[in-house]
Amino acid sequence: MEGVVDVYMRDILTRIGGFDLCVSEFVRVSNSVLPASVYYKYCPELKTGGRTAAGVPVHVQLMGGEPGLIAENATVVASLGALGIDLNFGCPAKTVNRRDAGASLLQYPERLHDIVAAVRKAVPAHIPVSAKMRLGYSDKTLYLENAHAIEDAGAVKLTVHARTKLEGYRAPAHWEFLAPIREALRIPVVANGEIWTPEDFVACRDVSGCTDFMIGRGAIARPSLALEIAALNTPQFQWPEILGLLERYNDLIQAMDGPLRRAGRLKQWIKLLGRTYEPSSELFMNIRRLQDPSEIIDAVRASAVA
Ligand SMILES: Cc1cc2nc3c(=O)[nH]c(=O)nc-3n(C[C@H](O)[C@H](O)[C@H](O)COP(=O)(O)O)c2cc1C
Repeated sequence: MEGVVDVYMRDILTRIGGFDLCVSEFVRVSNSVLPASVYYKYCPELKTGGRTAAGVPVHVQLMGGEPGLIAENATVVASLGALGIDLNFGCPAKTVNRRDAGASLLQYPERLHDIVAAVRKAVPAHIPVSAKMRLGYSDKTLYLENAHAIEDAGAVKLTVHARTKLEGYRAPAHWEFLAPIREALRIPVVANGEIWTPEDFVACRDVSGCTDFMIGRGAIARPSLALEIAALNTPQFQWPEILGLLERYNDLIQAMDGPLRRAGRLKQWIKLLGRTYEPSSELFMNIRRLQDPSEIIDAVRASAVA
């Protein structure tokens, strides 16, 4: 997740456990072949065999609308040792869609096909190429066509965020549309959208019939969620454990340039944690105007003794 699940967050979450795979933040391919340095920035794990310290593979996600260019970039990513390449057809951002990438491509199944096929052809056969899509752009009329286009072009797996671009991130996610996709395709369909709790996971599994799941915001709001899902009945982390994770995250992001950026990352996580942990909502109210990361972490520590 762009601006959220970076190398530091992946390190923290995969050490907790429950994840089989991570996907990098999207790398936007607009008009050039990006240098290796860009890919190392988005996916530093490329320097450690493409895996997090906990050993979970990280696939690199590319987003762009021009098959030849995205394929050339995929070749670079492959040469850096990526364990897999994922293609983003789900991003709803206006700036991205205006420039003919992300979810806007869901209006043109043949273009999805051409992009996936070009990347598949460009990278060595042992590197899996997968894709992520939404149910459509403004409506859901093309969802099966899009899914078929992606499969026919050689993707090994399709993650479906069960909403249209127009539906943004608003609940509910339409898990009922996942079952027909799963039934129509031969490749695995990964269910995504609105899984915040183990109960949501069970409901999504029952409605979609899927056996693979991608969790986005839920993984940040409830860091033990993947573990709880992987082994149902694993207890949810308690607030003191979460405070320990915030401390660890703060240590890791010291490597990040700019105190404002670090403050932003801490606030963002504390805010999302508020969905699961009441003390985090209170904490967020206290820190939301702070700009200095060390003041924020002082408030985190104070909340531990409060
Ligand atoms: C801030 C933010 C950044 C995101 N960045 C990406 C991204 O880089 N690549 C991607 O495939 N999806 C991205 N997503 C979408 C999520 O991966 C996921 O599909 C969506 O949030 C629905 O799942 P959830 O309800 O579990 O969060 C992003 C979502 C958010 C809120």
